[in-house]
Formats: sequence, structure tokens, C-alpha cells
Amino acid sequence: MNDMVKTFNGVPVPAGEKIRFADDGAPIVPDRPIVPYIEGDGIGAEITDQMRRIVDAAVKLAPRGDKRQIVWYETYAGDKAIKLFGTPLPDDTKAALDEFGIGIKGPLATPTGGGMRSLNVALRKHGDYYQCVRPVRYYTGVPSPVKRPQDMDVVIFRENGGTDDLYAGIEFEKDSPEVLEIIALLQKMGFTVSEDSGIGIKPISRRACIRIIRSAMEYAIKTGRKVVTLVGKGNIQKFTEGAFVAWGFEYVKEAYADYVITEEDLWSKYGGEIPEGKILVNYRITDAMFAEIIARPSKYSVIVTTNMNGDYLSDACAAVVGGLGIAPGANIGDRGALFEATHGTAPDIAGKGLANPSSILLSAVEMLRYMGWNEAAEMIVAALQNVILDGIVTGDMARLLTNVKGVSTSEFAEAILAELGKPARRPRLTLLGRVVAVIRHLADRLERFDVR
Ligand SMILES: NC(=O)c1ccc[n+]([C@@H]2O[C@H](COP(=O)([O-])OP(=O)(O)OC[C@H]3O[C@@H](n4cnc5c(N)ncnc54)[C@H](O)[C@@H]3O)[C@@H](O)[C@H]2O)c1
Repeated sequence: MNDMVKTFNGVPVPAGEKIRFADDGAPIVPDRPIVPYIEGDGIGAEITDQMRRIVDAAVKLAPRGDKRQIVWYETYAGDKAIKLFGTPLPDDTKAALDEFGIGIKGPLATPTGGGMRSLNVALRKHGDYYQCVRPVRYYTGVPSPVKRPQDMDVVIFRENGGTDDLYAGIEFEKDSPEVLEIIALLQKMGFTVSEDSGIGIKPISRRACIRIIRSAMEYAIKTGRKVVTLVGKGNIQKFTEGAFVAWGFEYVKEAYADYVITEEDLWSKYGGEIPEGKILVNYRITDAMFAEIIARPSKYSVIVTTNMNGDYLSDACAAVVGGLGIAPGANIGDRGALFEATHGTAPDIAGKGLANPSSILLSAVEMLRYMGWNEAAEMIVAALQNVILDGIVTGDMARLLTNVKGVSTSEFAEAILAELGKPARRPRLTLLGRVVAVIRHLADRLERFDVR
């Protein structure tokens, strides 16, 4: 602890150790890592508190639980930071995240149409967390708007570095001197631009594209996923989205030559079956992908895309499996990561004890996996699944189900705590249900790799 700064935002650093990073960016995690957390606005405090209780209990129950413990360290952003320090994002908060290399946060409010820029975007940009990783899978019992939500099991890699796409924040207001200058320049170049326009600029850099595509490929190789889909509106935005796809294919064919097969190879050389040890890299135009991911989700596994596409696609996929209340989020860089609930501050239910803590809890699961504490992570996943199977859900889900009673945030957390350490249960099926499941399984196998 001697080499450590002793306070951030005036709060003493608790006794624990820092996560360090190997040369390849892999975290080296001590038994008592200091983990900064930001409660967040609105429902943030309610869900963050319950998440910490459950994570602590799971870590204790998991192997080495007598030695391992997360040393939580509160750091501030949003309304709480404004109250305490007069600013929504104190420099010390960013410094604490840099110092400890990891963090988890609740939602933060962002005004629409004016006022301050998003704190979430500022935090992601500061940490150069260029990978926004959104795993989307179904938990049996969660209400879904589609017939077979269980077919969705994708991991979305969204470019998140803050320098690219419309998220770079390069926007000019109608009638401003800058916008008039840009319009004049565009008109000089021969473009027709209406003079009453506001203008946003979309830079897409090769560097940002390659590093997010590399992250998606590395993930697919590490986890044995067999399809990586590049998504972009390349037919219309040729030098931005189109370039993302073109650079991506050029890069993967060279850097992952031993792994990559294209859709053309799949049919001309491999008869439609992805061979062992190979990864199918394909391309889908953004609008077609939205239709595909809802109509044929089982064809997709890892999706990699630019920032804005990824933003829309993540929420659409989350909706298929039951909404943002249950979707986790991870922002990962080469030297650190910030995990976060994917929904907003839910001001309509804040302070009422009604919020669903699943999103931040599953974000904590991603954090535990990132730390290599997989047993604690899987224990939480199993407990959450069991609780939902038992029909114990918060109001947002209860509204959409029959024969269940909505419980409060803390009752839901208590139910999860009671299930920790128990094996994951499977849904009970009737005889007819089992027959249908077998037929579906066989049908799935037959068309599994038919990606045409
Ligand atoms: N990552 C983030 O921090 C993040 C993400 C999205 C929105 N926001 C911010 O949150 C604020 C509110 O945004 P919004 O209203 O568009 O979206 P929202 O996600 O806060 O709420 C949309 C609806 O979903 C419900 N909801 C959301 N999370 C829930 C949960 N965990 N449990 C139960 N119900 C839940 C809300 O009650 C509301 O009805 C805005 O300031 C926005 O900028 C922050």
C-alpha cells in the first residue's frame, strides 16, 4: 500500500490490493482486489447495494472463499458527485478507475437535446474502454415478446473508444458559425446541404475498427464460438461503415488465416458445415441484421460492429430475451474495464424498492469472469436462473407473466442469496413439451449452419 495514493475524492483507500495487468492486457488479480464502484442515479443505489451483497456472498461460497474478498471502494459520478463536489464527474473518480484498473457502475442520467454530454460516454472515453461487450442470452421464465427467445445466445462487440462514429461528439448546431462554415465548404465541394441543417460528423478510423474486430476474434477463439459477423451499413456509407467491413475482412484473413473461412468457402469447400477449429466470418448489412437477429438468432454467435449500430443492436437483442432489466454490459480496454447496468436510471420507480437488479448483477458476473473468478460468476448465474424459474421476479417482469407475484428489489436479492451454491435447475417439461423439444433440437441441427 505504500506506493498507493491514499485518498480519492477525500475518501481513504481501504486495505486491499490493486489489480495489475500482464503485457498482453490480461488482469492479474490478487485475493483482495480493490474495486471502485459508482452507485449511479435514480435506482442506482438500490440495485448496486443488492449486487454487492450477492457478489460478496458468492465469492465467499466459491473455492478460496476463505481468502478471497472484493474490497469495494465507493467513487462518485452523477447526482451524488454534484451534491458532494459540485461536479458530475470529479477528476478523482477517473483517477480512481485508472489506479485500480477495474470498476462497476449503476446508470447515470444524461439530459436529452442539450446540457452536459453523457457521463457514460465520458467515462468510456477516459478509460479508452474501446470494447463495449454485451452478452445476450435467455433465462428461462423471463417474459419475452418472441416464441423462441432461447435461440438467442450472442455476444455483441460494439466499438466504444469515443473517437469514432457519431459518438465522437463532433456536432454543430443549426445557424452556428461552425455549421455555416461547414455548409459553405460542402457546397463548394458540390454537395447539396440545406442551410437550416445541424451537422454531425462520423469519423471511422482503421485503428478503431481493427482493434474491436481483433477483440471479437480473440473472444471467439477463446470461447469456441464459431461464427463472427461483421455488421455495417456498407452499401450506403461506403467510406465509413463500408470501410469497417473491408478493413475487417482484409485484417482477419491475414491475422487469423488459420481460422477464418468465409461464407463462400463454407459452401464451395466445406458443404455448409463449419469445420472443427475454423471460424466463419461473415457480413450482414445493418438493417438486414435487425431482421435476421429476430427471425433467425441461432445463426449468429459473435457480432462486431461500429458504435451506433452496436447501440441499437444491443438493445434490440436485449428486448428479444426480456429487456434491458436483465442485460449486462462491459466496457473493456487494454488496461482496465468498467462494468455497467445497461438500462437507465428509471426515474419513474427510483426510491420505491421496485427495481430489477439483474442487469447490474449480470454485469458483476462479467466482472468476475474478467477477473477469472468463474466459480462465483457461475454460482450467481445459476441462482438467478433458479429464482426466475420459481416465479420470483420484480414488478417489471411480473407485469408480463401470469401466476407470479412481483417482489421488491431486496426480496428478489434475498431469494438469489438463498439459492447461491445450489445447482442450476432445469424447467420441468410435460411429455408433450419434451417431444416438441426433441423435434426442435433435430430441426435445429439440420439447418444449423445453413447461413444463406
Ligand atoms: N448506461 C447508463 O447509465 C444509461 C443508459 C440508458 C439511459 N440512461 C439515462 O437514464 C435516464 C432515464 O432514461 P430512460 O427513461 O430513457 O430509460 P430507463 O432505462 O431509465 O427506463 C425505461 C423504462 O424501463 C424501466 N426500467 C429501467 N431499468 C429498470 C430496472 N432495472 N428495473 C425495472 N424497471 C426498469 C423504467 O422504469 C422505465 O419504465 C436518462 O437520463 C438516460 O440518459 C443511462
